[in-house]
Amino acid sequence: MSDVKNFSIKLKVWRQNGAKDKGRFETYPLSDVSPNASFLEMMDLLNEQLIGEGKEPIAFDHDCREGICGACSLFINGRAHGPDGEITTCQLHMRHYKEGETITIEPWRTKGFPMIKDLMTDRYAYDQIQHAGGYVSISTGGVPDANAIPIIKADADEAMDAASCIGCGACAATCKNGSAMLFVAAKVSQLALLPQGKIEASRRAKAMVAKMDYLGFGNCSNTGACEIECPKNVSISHIARLNREFLVANVKD
Ligand code: SF4
Ligand code: FES
Repeated sequence: MSDVKNFSIKLKVWRQNGAKDKGRFETYPLSDVSPNASFLEMMDLLNEQLIGEGKEPIAFDHDCREGICGACSLFINGRAHGPDGEITTCQLHMRHYKEGETITIEPWRTKGFPMIKDLMTDRYAYDQIQHAGGYVSISTGGVPDANAIPIIKADADEAMDAASCIGCGACAATCKNGSAMLFVAAKVSQLALLPQGKIEASRRAKAMVAKMDYLGFGNCSNTGACEIECPKNVSISHIARLNREFLVANVKD
């Protein structure tokens, strides 16, 4: 039998009633937290407590709760997705925290993701960037037999690394310039490395970068913060590929 004990914590949570509200931190004590609970289960417990006290529950985003959808976007004690590398907020567990600890929880704060309420921001901008060019529009014929199109192993690995991006927004939220370059680079790279996506690579890079700029995301200054906070460990080297494709598009024009 496990001898882990439930414990008490304090939560300092950002509350904001929509984009026009100034917002403020509120502090809530929470007891009987299981170390085996996930961070979002702990948030559910807090909301049950608030509802029981006749207070408004905290709005926060989530969907899959298993690291797939990218919805659970929070800053926890100043780190995107919390203290652990390569996991999303929903994959974080309360065993990381101790009795009496204060945990500060904030939403993504960047121009590209407007505030909805409390810890929820609107990440639709990433969908808009994807819609601007993150697809293959040429005819690629029928589904080929497996292994009919040989792809160099290193390229396949890099494409898979890029394709692991879940669009969570931690890259732009962490970047001091609010740049979405790691996200855009991942989407451009995953297609540019494969035969079906290669043909439109430059056009795609140009269209997605133009949309990113239009939506108010900042420029990349290569600090690397995005790569460190990315829950899927998407490599910053994809930004170099994006820059190459973007340059080729401009030369072609
Ligand atoms: S690149 Fe990483 S941090 Fe950025 S949206 Fe994709 S998964 Fe999230
Ligand atoms: S809720 Fe889907 S990744 Fe966390």
